[in-house]
Amino acid sequence: MTTTRNVDLLLKNITPTESFPISFSELEAAAKENMSPGAFGYIQSGAGSEETLRKNVSSFSKFSIVPRFLNDVSTLDTSVKLFGRTYPYPLLIAPVGMQKIAHEDGEIATAKAAAVYGIPFIQSTVSGYSIEEVAEATSDSPKWFQLYWSSTNAEIGYSMVKRAEEAGFEAIVLTVDTVMMGWREEDVRNQYSPLKQGFGKANYETDPVFLTSIPTNDFDSIIQGMLDNIYHPTLSWAQVAELKKRTSLPILLKGILHPEDAKLAIENNIDGIIVSNHGGRQLDGVIASIDALPAIVEAVKGKIPVLFDSGIRRGTDIVKAVALGADAVLLGRPFVYGLAVDGQKGVEKVLENFLQEMKVSISLSGVTNLKDLRNLITRNSPTRF
Ligand code: FNR
Ligand code: LAC
Repeated sequence: MTTTRNVDLLLKNITPTESFPISFSELEAAAKENMSPGAFGYIQSGAGSEETLRKNVSSFSKFSIVPRFLNDVSTLDTSVKLFGRTYPYPLLIAPVGMQKIAHEDGEIATAKAAAVYGIPFIQSTVSGYSIEEVAEATSDSPKWFQLYWSSTNAEIGYSMVKRAEEAGFEAIVLTVDTVMMGWREEDVRNQYSPLKQGFGKANYETDPVFLTSIPTNDFDSIIQGMLDNIYHPTLSWAQVAELKKRTSLPILLKGILHPEDAKLAIENNIDGIIVSNHGGRQLDGVIASIDALPAIVEAVKGKIPVLFDSGIRRGTDIVKAVALGADAVLLGRPFVYGLAVDGQKGVEKVLENFLQEMKVSISLSGVTNLKDLRNLITRNSPTRF
């Protein structure tokens, strides 16, 4: 149980710290200063007209917290149990590939920052450091592995899953919304592809099965092999069932937006789902992730954990998502900007600010644990409780 005395929170909040951008927009602006236009554009932008990217954030204001008062909120338990393990906060680091475009320490810096708080770090298939390098740098802190299906040879994907298992990772996140990359105009405009530049090759160039699948082990072959492999339009439920047989780790599907897919996930013995639209980077015009959440929570009926991402920009967004039924949320662009601003320290700062605002906000909602947030939210056309 993570218990925080709120007097500590108040004192912390008024302790002056060295200047670090605090709001999302300040963070984004500071990160922009530290990156090439191509790299910043890759991280910041969304697909198509960016309708979904915008809606992901603006739709949070459709929901309001309705606090209760006169409860003793002097203690707070923010812990969450997922797949038999207890984590201190309902917060995880979203899988973000190619983090070296933001900072040369990339995934190592982020994973170390997450470890400071006991927050699970989800490592992308297309990361700049390998599974083993991240594991070595962070010893036994919680880590999950995100898998992009391997189209040319499924054994490559299974091999990476096995490596993650052996390195002590605790869950597999299969991303289902990126069978091919979305139409991203900013990247076309900038002619920018970090995949082609090799920023995401670490897990491939160290994978024994992948290396035997390409003609030579030079840079061009590795990149071409990766590109061929990562385009996987054939992915279907049958392959998910096969993956389930190949690992003893819990499997989550990331990118679920339709309640019927959530039900199918349960029928296929999937262990958890992540409601997400990939931060508006894949199909533009899809439902905002927060708008998709309530119907999915209703469909799942508590049978498996429902995680959430896309649009979390401050601590109160975590509170709203949890109040709407998410077991935990994933943080995306904000931590990447923290990484760009100041490496590991920058990610720690971002996490600290999110956790502080989240904790204060839960207490100010009038509850002392996450479960009790559930009754405290309404759509903005209310109000009957
Ligand atoms: C991502 N995301 C992502 N997701 C995934 O499953 N595998 C990946 O390799 C990546 N790579 C990636 C790179 C960059 C630069 C970004 C910004 C995002 C999506 C990520 O996990 C998450 O779904 C979104 O970032 C959530 O949206 P917000 O909250 O960041 O807007
Ligand atoms: C992205 C891919 C790598 O969103 O998932 O950039």
